[in-house]
Amino acid sequence: MNNKKVSNILKSFNSKILKGKIIPASDKSISHRSLIISALAIGESKIKNLLDSDDVYCTISALRILGVKIRKNLKNEWSVIGVGLGGFSQPEEIINCGNSGTLARILLGVVSNNDISVTFTGDKSLNRRPMDRVITPLKKMGAKFISSDQNKLPITIQGNSNLLPIQYENTVSSAQVKTSILLASLNVRGLTEVKEPYTSRDHTEKLLEQFGAKIKFKSTKKRNNIITLEGGNILQRADIYIPADLSSASFAMVAATIIPGSSVELSNVCLNYFRTGIIEVLKKMGAKIKINKKVIQGTNEEVGDIHVEYSDLSGIDVKSLYSARMIDEYPILAVAAATASGKTILRGLTELKVKESNRFAAIVNGLRSCKVLVEDDGENIIITGTKNNVEGGAIINSNFDHRIAMSFLILGAVSNKPIKVMGCDSISTSYPNFLTQMNELGMDIRSDG
Ligand code: S3P
Repeated sequence: MNNKKVSNILKSFNSKILKGKIIPASDKSISHRSLIISALAIGESKIKNLLDSDDVYCTISALRILGVKIRKNLKNEWSVIGVGLGGFSQPEEIINCGNSGTLARILLGVVSNNDISVTFTGDKSLNRRPMDRVITPLKKMGAKFISSDQNKLPITIQGNSNLLPIQYENTVSSAQVKTSILLASLNVRGLTEVKEPYTSRDHTEKLLEQFGAKIKFKSTKKRNNIITLEGGNILQRADIYIPADLSSASFAMVAATIIPGSSVELSNVCLNYFRTGIIEVLKKMGAKIKINKKVIQGTNEEVGDIHVEYSDLSGIDVKSLYSARMIDEYPILAVAAATASGKTILRGLTELKVKESNRFAAIVNGLRSCKVLVEDDGENIIITGTKNNVEGGAIINSNFDHRIAMSFLILGAVSNKPIKVMGCDSISTSYPNFLTQMNELGMDIRSDG
């Protein structure tokens, strides 16, 4: 487990200007994928700047249970000795994925093409989340599943080294589902095709290319993206450097945008096109965000420094086509909308109901308890901005959801009365040094019991 634990109850007070430069936490999606894909390769892969968080430790522990040797060396690099495709050992233990839906869904796919039987479980939040989205395609390929509760964890999977290729069209855009199918297909005979309505984050495709997989994809901005993967791969070891996570950077980015007088630099952030919806939307609202020093880094990802200054925001209509490109940023965008002038409409948010918590309800109820006017129709949320006059004074239960906890702590920094957030230990799943970094920039977040 990582040792930078976050206190359970935090209180965020109105803060003065934010100033300074931080490197936000390393990218969580790329961290999970780097470990997992390295485990499937031949030879020793080295990973620099791996995210030091609870979710990522669950991935390390899961892979070790499956027989993969993983260790950290003195240079702070992680070394993963790959076992090759189909090379996992029959585990003696249950695999606990903690709070991580990404780990559970991707690993179900990865295990499915091994002749082993594995039981997966998670924490209370993860055991409530739907797994049928990966079970349906993996069953079609030949894997077998047992679950006592409607395709929810705990689930036992009986894998099969003779899985069949699949042509799968997903009805929702999901990088977890896409990744699960692609990794399950690496050693089948024949061609696998995955199609999704709007392209979701393509870190897996880029990493697979780097590890030498026979994959074809276009990082197309158009609809109906198709990825094809030929079976019979042998993945070769690689060296990976992980940039900072834009989803984590978004908290300071919004904070600097809404706290008068602020000017903040967020360095070395991954700017994968399919993650940058939040930057585009904030700019449309009037945010002053500039990207400096954009370069392409190791895993073929765009990386750059983000410079943010305070600006007056205006509400806008955020169309549902944005949701695949900023699915994790709606809670913090809702905070920005609450401080803007005019109405912001956030459309197409049903997926938010099955995240680490029901984020749809958490945004609506949390903002209302801070005296912000919010309407919803079960799919869209309309927030009437307060022109920098959020009352606050609420106690928010994050329901062990890291992004809800962090978003309401940011709202506290611009509220008239402090906001207290319960369940902040969840922040360690993705951003263990959130509190230190936010306070370094000038926020006033304190432990409260
Ligand atoms: C993730 C994909 C997204 C996102 C999650 C991380 C990933 O989920 O919400 O936090 O790393 O693949 P979906 O694939 O369900 O959209």
